[in-house]
Amino acid sequence: MDMTLDLKALAAILFRHIWIILIIMISTVGMSLFVTYQVMSPVYEGKTELLITTEQADGQALPSPGDIDSSLKLIDTYRAIIESPTVLNPVISDLENSLTIAHLKQKMTVEPLHDSQVLVIKVEDQDQKTAVNTANLIAQSFQKRTAELMKLDNVHLLSPAEYNPDAKQICPKPVVNTIISILIGGLFAMGIVLLKHIFNTSLSSEEAVTTHLEQPVLGVIPTLPKPASEDSISSQNALRQQLMHHWQDKTPIEPYQNLAASLLYLIKNETLKTILFTSPNPGEGKSLTSLNTALLFANSKKRTLYIDMDLRKPSCHYAFQLPNHVGMSSYLFHEMPISDIIQESEIEHLSIITAGPPPPFSARLLNVAKINALLTALKDDFDIIIIDSPPTFVSDTPLISGHADGTVMVVDSKSTRYPDARQAIERITQSDSKVLGVILNNFKMKHVQDYYY
Ligand SMILES: Nc1ncnc2c1ncn2[C@@H]1O[C@H](COP(=O)(O)OP(=O)(O)O)[C@@H](O)[C@H]1O
Ligand SMILES: [Mg+2]
Repeated sequence: MDMTLDLKALAAILFRHIWIILIIMISTVGMSLFVTYQVMSPVYEGKTELLITTEQADGQALPSPGDIDSSLKLIDTYRAIIESPTVLNPVISDLENSLTIAHLKQKMTVEPLHDSQVLVIKVEDQDQKTAVNTANLIAQSFQKRTAELMKLDNVHLLSPAEYNPDAKQICPKPVVNTIISILIGGLFAMGIVLLKHIFNTSLSSEEAVTTHLEQPVLGVIPTLPKPASEDSISSQNALRQQLMHHWQDKTPIEPYQNLAASLLYLIKNETLKTILFTSPNPGEGKSLTSLNTALLFANSKKRTLYIDMDLRKPSCHYAFQLPNHVGMSSYLFHEMPISDIIQESEIEHLSIITAGPPPPFSARLLNVAKINALLTALKDDFDIIIIDSPPTFVSDTPLISGHADGTVMVVDSKSTRYPDARQAIERITQSDSKVLGVILNNFKMKHVQDYYY
């Protein structure tokens, strides 16, 4: 798991998943609007402003607060008085509802206006009229109690709360809620995308192959179109129909040509002759990829031998519709001479050794010396020998690969997990075989038409 991501890579990952991010953001905004309009009740505010003077109505000076400190204390004192039962109890009885003092205190706030001598009493309620009425009742009760208790006449109603049919609710706020939901939705979506990236063990891109497997990508094979009458045909028939020379018009050929070109380059430069195709798990495309590569080599007039060494799950005799009474197993287990097991295919320059009848179950291990002898004997007769093998976890595969000049690892971009692929590569390298690179099969091309002509 690669935990270090630079900013450019991070942006690229997020951009690749822009649709997921947008969908999550739109869903969060939708949920927020639903909650705002359908679940939350609107709350309105009633606001009364009181002016507290330092002079009595008759012009007599009040004991002066003197400094800011005592002025603040005075404000606190007034606030405490406003919130006291002496002021609030008459309000509750005037309101004629079953409000408690604690409840009323929750709904109201008393604050000075910008450190001035103006006190603002705010009351919130689901009904605007009640909010307005309560704010005014509190102001009146406070005015009355100051006069009674403190014998002061210095509280003046500056602006009473007023009912306004066009007033906007103070809560919930659709715009604020929408902005918050966009931010939360966006962050949440990006978090999900990044976590998915960090914990993603698939080999869904060339970059993933080079990063996680530290191997060159020899070819990228797209998901091929399904054969026409797929419902009624077996997977062996499907394989045949996906062979290049059975392809109809408009079928991708270029990816295989690119793969064959990479292999030819290696063969020339590193003087390789026998190439083994394997994969971490069954069904990842060893046979289809190796068969098509062999076809391309034969097409380019290279004397090509294809050996089906996947003795328990053979496939090439189905693909080429060849008899399978004799084959590799006949040579390995029944001492049949090499010349008797080689068949000519319908394609010029392409010879085949099919798997032959399934080996006895007791034959757990292959006689690798015999395989080596066969490869050595045939080396001069062919330009290229392609071996289709079982997956790497089958103990035969590393043994066979030890006698090939190079091994290519086929991985399925949709199903192969890179820890499995890494283990597979390790098994091959431990058997003293050279891993030439990786073929990324079953790849979902963004622009499949690029490969059609
Ligand atoms: N790139 C591909 N696109 C579509 N189908 C594929 C692709 N590669 C393999 N398949 C199909 O998947 C199945 C398994 O492929 P196969 O080559 O037999 O795998 P393996 O030899 O590794 O077990 C076959 O039916 C084959 O037609
Ligand atoms: Mg196979």
